[in-house]
Amino acid sequence: PKPDLAATPPMGWNSWNKYKCDINEAMVRRQADAMASSGMKDAGYKYIVIDDCWQKSRDADGNILADPERFPSGIKALADYVHSKGLKFGLYSDAGVLTCGGRPGSRGYEFQDARQYAEWGVDYLKYDWCYTGSMDAEAAYTIMAKALRASGRDILLSICEWGDNEPSKWAAVPGHMWRTTGDIFDAWEGKSGYSIGMTNILDKQVNLWSHSGPNQWNDPDMLEVGNGGMTKTEYEAHFSLWAMLAAPLISGNDLSTMSEETLKILTNKDVIAVDQDPLGQQARRIWKEGDLEIWARPLKGGDRAVVLFNRGAEAKTMSVSWDQIDLPAGLRADVKDLWSKTVTKGVKGTFGGTVASHGVIMVRITPKV
Ligand code: GLA
Repeated sequence: PKPDLAATPPMGWNSWNKYKCDINEAMVRRQADAMASSGMKDAGYKYIVIDDCWQKSRDADGNILADPERFPSGIKALADYVHSKGLKFGLYSDAGVLTCGGRPGSRGYEFQDARQYAEWGVDYLKYDWCYTGSMDAEAAYTIMAKALRASGRDILLSICEWGDNEPSKWAAVPGHMWRTTGDIFDAWEGKSGYSIGMTNILDKQVNLWSHSGPNQWNDPDMLEVGNGGMTKTEYEAHFSLWAMLAAPLISGNDLSTMSEETLKILTNKDVIAVDQDPLGQQARRIWKEGDLEIWARPLKGGDRAVVLFNRGAEAKTMSVSWDQIDLPAGLRADVKDLWSKTVTKGVKGTFGGTVASHGVIMVRITPKV
């Protein structure tokens, strides 16, 4: 069986959203330094993952080689550095002959690559789905999962086939998480020129909740918080909704230069606690009327997490009633607003407030016993 590496959704950082192929070892070390010193590590982030374009070629024996100009010290040294900060190290490859960025893929080299990753000290593999021709997705991911298990090292497998091959039917066997959509863009919604923004990704998660749970997470793609394409209010909504979805929280910004505002969003401990709740139940959208939505999930011990979400252009008054979240109407509960940190005690029957345009109110409801 696969190793138990993701009892709660993985948390970390990945190079792609900010840097694409413009990566190098000094930049990755800076991210590790920042994760360790900024408060990110204390908040639960632990994986430093290098996405596409670290590879250059294979040697005569088929061994995968890192780009010698961008990673002159080699991958092992970088993994050692990341480990020295008390963090874990991740790499990227692809099930096909080439990666999406046109670098060598792992097809035909699965066991050799997995042994190499284990030697280097890799803890996490993101495995992509470009240049796969007529390959069968389940079979391809199963081969890499077996190769990782045979490598002698516990390596988390992050499946990245964009939800195109019904991953909910098979991906939980080989993988710890699987992408459910195409690539996120740092925008509220898609426009011509880039396909899908944050809200479009959210819409695609609505019917997926039952497939997710400990060690098998739906992955609505990495975070864009701090990359500049959305407002503070929108990034708070993005982070809140990803936590409701029990999504892997993989930051995608430059941790070494992020603002206080970005750090505060990414390290909101109450919101992270919802994401990392041990029950592992992904939220459902329990109500929608026009631009207004309510998302809710049960938490371990009987609490509820609720997000009131307003996609519209004007602020709106919204509320959730206890019967919508399977609580008795007469029950009293303490309600904590997870962004303002205000606690309202002994609330009965319903809770609400004014939700900003493109914003959320996110609360944790604790029944009084
Ligand atoms: C695909 C993935 C992205 C990223 C790129 C790298 O598009 O979905 O997350 O890994 O490939 O080329």
